[in-house]
Amino acid sequence: MRTVKTPSAMQRMARSWQRQGRRVGLVPTMGALHNGHSRLIREARRRVGPSGIVVVSVYVNPTQFGPTEDLSRYPRHPATDRRRCRAEGVDVLFLPSDDVMYPGKTVGRYSTYVVEERLSRGMEGVSRPAHFRGVTTVVAKLFHCVQPDVAVFGAKDWQQAAVVRRMTADLNFPVRIVVAPTQREPDGLALSSRNAHLTSAERAEATVLWEALESCRKAVRDAKGRVPASALERGVRRLIASRPRARLDYVEFFDPDTLTPVTAVGRDSHMALAVHLGRTRLIDNGGLS
Ligand code: PAJ
Repeated sequence: MRTVKTPSAMQRMARSWQRQGRRVGLVPTMGALHNGHSRLIREARRRVGPSGIVVVSVYVNPTQFGPTEDLSRYPRHPATDRRRCRAEGVDVLFLPSDDVMYPGKTVGRYSTYVVEERLSRGMEGVSRPAHFRGVTTVVAKLFHCVQPDVAVFGAKDWQQAAVVRRMTADLNFPVRIVVAPTQREPDGLALSSRNAHLTSAERAEATVLWEALESCRKAVRDAKGRVPASALERGVRRLIASRPRARLDYVEFFDPDTLTPVTAVGRDSHMALAVHLGRTRLIDNGGLS
């Protein structure tokens, strides 16, 4: 496994793979890798084949964190990330620094961003106003550095995957976007690098996101017709309120492709929610069939 630290070195390598006709798969991450990330890495390998190249980028992207968010305490585990990537058969670890990704940013020189203007507006976009601008900017930059044929994202961040897919189509990136299913703990909690911040009491209450998904699924399954979103939302609010450490940020019911909110929820609908547990904010989502 090789480690690459600059966009120019990465681009040189990408051009030589292109000349050799090798397929390239990219898994963008912010590190603190867990089994959810491993699942994406395996999916990338499956897509490019044994003679293809799998690149994992590990970069805690400052532009997608708001001023009051957890950038400085975001978990960083470079040694274990490296071991996991090697064990998963990753070919190249791309580890750029802030200096090479956003040169001159601290003195106000860096000034170009990529903005998706529709799908990024709701849900996470309301709670984290500049978040998706940071995500689309860094993903566009990573695509330019690695020039992948395929890039794999997780369904765990459903809105992010939709925004990235839109950007990829709108800006004509020749990249196939693949979305891999959410990996969960046995009790339903979605794996997340941020779970490491939870105290044991918060961890015990964190299953409430999964319980909310399951209770809405059951309500939709048991209903004859469609269920009013307002009724489902009331149920979710009640459930979250029953956990003293949990505070609901948002819950939304929407069309899985367009992310348009729906007022009458059916099995073809999707739901997403964000919940604060102490100082940690968790998100989850799922279909309702
Ligand atoms: P990060 O949170 O590290 O996630 C990297 C990728 O792993 C994302 O596509 C995310 O959806 C996926 N992922 C996270 N938890 C998962 C789980 N439990 N099951 C399946 N996939 C999971 O998302 C980001 O980083 C950043 O925004 C990034 C895209 C790298 C841009 O900076």
